[in-house]
Amino acid sequence: MATKTRKPSVTVKVQFNRHFKPYNECRQRYRLAKGSAGSGKSVNTAQDYILKLGDPQYKGANLLCVRKVAESNKDSTYAELKSAIYKIHGENYEKFWIIRSSPMELESKVTGNKVIFRGMKDDGQREKVKSITFDKGKLTWIWVEEATELYEADVDILDDRLRGSLDFNPFLYYQMTFTFNPVSATHWLKAKYFDTKHPDIFTHQSTYLQNRFIDDAYHRRMMMRKDRDPDGYRIYGEGEWGESGGMILTNYSVEEFDRHPDRFDYMVNAQDFGFNHANAIGEIGFKDGNL
Ligand SMILES: Nc1ncnc2c1ncn2[C@@H]1O[C@H](COP(=O)(O)OP(=O)(O)OP(=O)(O)O)[C@@H](O)[C@H]1O
Ligand SMILES: [Mg+2]
Repeated sequence: MATKTRKPSVTVKVQFNRHFKPYNECRQRYRLAKGSAGSGKSVNTAQDYILKLGDPQYKGANLLCVRKVAESNKDSTYAELKSAIYKIHGENYEKFWIIRSSPMELESKVTGNKVIFRGMKDDGQREKVKSITFDKGKLTWIWVEEATELYEADVDILDDRLRGSLDFNPFLYYQMTFTFNPVSATHWLKAKYFDTKHPDIFTHQSTYLQNRFIDDAYHRRMMMRKDRDPDGYRIYGEGEWGESGGMILTNYSVEEFDRHPDRFDYMVNAQDFGFNHANAIGEIGFKDGNL
């Protein structure tokens, strides 16, 4: 099915960062905004969705917003989308949108298009995603905010939701949007969407330096971070994949040595349950107050 595009038929007052233009216009199934902290990803994505969902040409589109933990939507995606509604429509916003808070839901009065919010924390939350339906139109768009928090399997479940004919409106298209800071070069998102070139994938990179709405104090804070925490600055300042993969200890060497318990004052075992990475079990010995 060919996807048509034309100029949005609503005139509104809202400001964009220019570098997001190709991102906002792309129609690929997978749209990824990787970037530093404060680069404008969330604000831009929220504005983009509110404009599209309220535009009659996209009648029948519905958006699902996902965080790893459903409750986190309240202060992120839900807050950003509401803020976009207020900015775009000003004090007349109630003529254009219905904002519901429990459960959280947004509905365009112009198109009937809706936004709902879910999580992928456990099987209970995952099951709720599998049974989503909308009374008008179809689930066409999914925004995964802070996407590095999700497992690849979570995203596969979401991806499965976008299917079926959209022939009832030739302007509609399926799309998953991922916004995130590139915390680790070993993250599955990099292997799946960035190391593979595919016509269905659109990637975008941004830094706070391209965000014309950022204040000077933010710049100065970032410069301090650059000096004190170069690894963190690479991710949160430059929007580049973190080399250290969120490493906590950097000053160490790897050696074979005698690990017999008699050599230590005491020993402990520690386990770190893998979130995005594998499970780790460590054995730590203390001697004379040293680790
Ligand atoms: N289009 C815009 N219009 C007005 N202000 C904006 C716009 N885009 C960004 N900003 C300002 O820049 C700040 C940072 O933007 P945003 O929260 O979107 O960054 P981000 O890339 O999502 O950051 P993080 O990676 O930390 O989540 C916003 O809080 C807002 O003050
Ligand atoms: Mg953000």
